[in-house]
Amino acid sequence: MKKIAIFPGDGIGPEIVDAARLVLDAVDQAAGLQLQCTDGLVGGAALDAADDPLPEASLQLAMAADAVILGAVGGPCWDNLPPAKRPEQGLLRLRKHLDLFANLRPAQIFLQLLSASPLRPELVQDVDILVVRELTGDIYFGQPRGVEIVNGKRRGHNTMVYDEDEIRRIAHVAFKAAQGRRKQLCSVDKANVLETTRLWREVVTELAPEYPDVSLTHMYVDNAAMQLIRAPAQFDVLLTGNMFGDILSDEASQLTGSIGMLPSASLGEGRGMYEPIHGSAPDIAGQDKANPLATILSIAMMLRHSLGAEQWAQRVEMAVQKVLDAGLRTADIAAPGEAVIGTRAMGQAVVQALQL
Ligand code: IPM
Ligand code: MN
Repeated sequence: MKKIAIFPGDGIGPEIVDAARLVLDAVDQAAGLQLQCTDGLVGGAALDAADDPLPEASLQLAMAADAVILGAVGGPCWDNLPPAKRPEQGLLRLRKHLDLFANLRPAQIFLQLLSASPLRPELVQDVDILVVRELTGDIYFGQPRGVEIVNGKRRGHNTMVYDEDEIRRIAHVAFKAAQGRRKQLCSVDKANVLETTRLWREVVTELAPEYPDVSLTHMYVDNAAMQLIRAPAQFDVLLTGNMFGDILSDEASQLTGSIGMLPSASLGEGRGMYEPIHGSAPDIAGQDKANPLATILSIAMMLRHSLGAEQWAQRVEMAVQKVLDAGLRTADIAAPGEAVIGTRAMGQAVVQALQL
């Protein structure tokens, strides 16, 4: 028996999570996983209910779970709250408290949707990148931080900081991921300017002898941003710190042209949180228009990384390929004039395609 905490969150979160639940329940029954799923509040939904983007009950629920599924957080009605009361804080605190230091963000082309990419098909048809982003350190969490008045002027500061253990543990994840793929690891830094990232490069290099089958390269972050547009198929695994990974993973997602398709996993020791990489899309919330496939593919990642069910992960991924092959499209991935189906219907179609 495994415990799953489910946080639907805000905007389209509840709808996409409900559609993904259809798939999870179907797999649970067919595979006899005996999952025990419990819902909780996070983000704006939690602010409204308990004046806190991560109430204690939600944190406890997440800590007790083997895996967490999250829809999306945020929306315009919570945009003007003070920093500690923003929905995003719920997410950042979950990552930190659960020590989810390894964020895996695959940017994979779906050939059925090739024309949706803003880049020419010949540039992106072979794109299959895994961004491995460190998630609990760096300038996101570094101290000191703040805005204060110095000599009558407002002054803001944040601290970019990594110690070698933090670098080492995320680098191991990236090397191992590369071993299971095309064995090419590119570590991203700004070692020509920033000492923190010079240490990053040093520590990553020190580990390379433990992975003789992986070819390790290093790239400055500005060049990496450029290469992702110029020749994205050159990358296999990209290893980054928290801040650079935030930026480059958004960029990588756009290569595929279908942000509604991309899942993510945030992993710590024995724990994982799974969420689509897209946001809460408040403009289409509650209309049964959102694409649930990123959440469904996140469930596949959960089956793989937290539930030891690799074969079921692959079956869910294959079912998604099948519905795309069959021409089923939500509005975000439909070509002009193509027929579209709703969120729930897409979830049901994936369940059908599983052929249980
Ligand atoms: C992401 C998001 C978050 C981040 C925000 C919502 C705090 O942009 O998951 O990439 O910056 O990490
Ligand atoms: Mn981001």
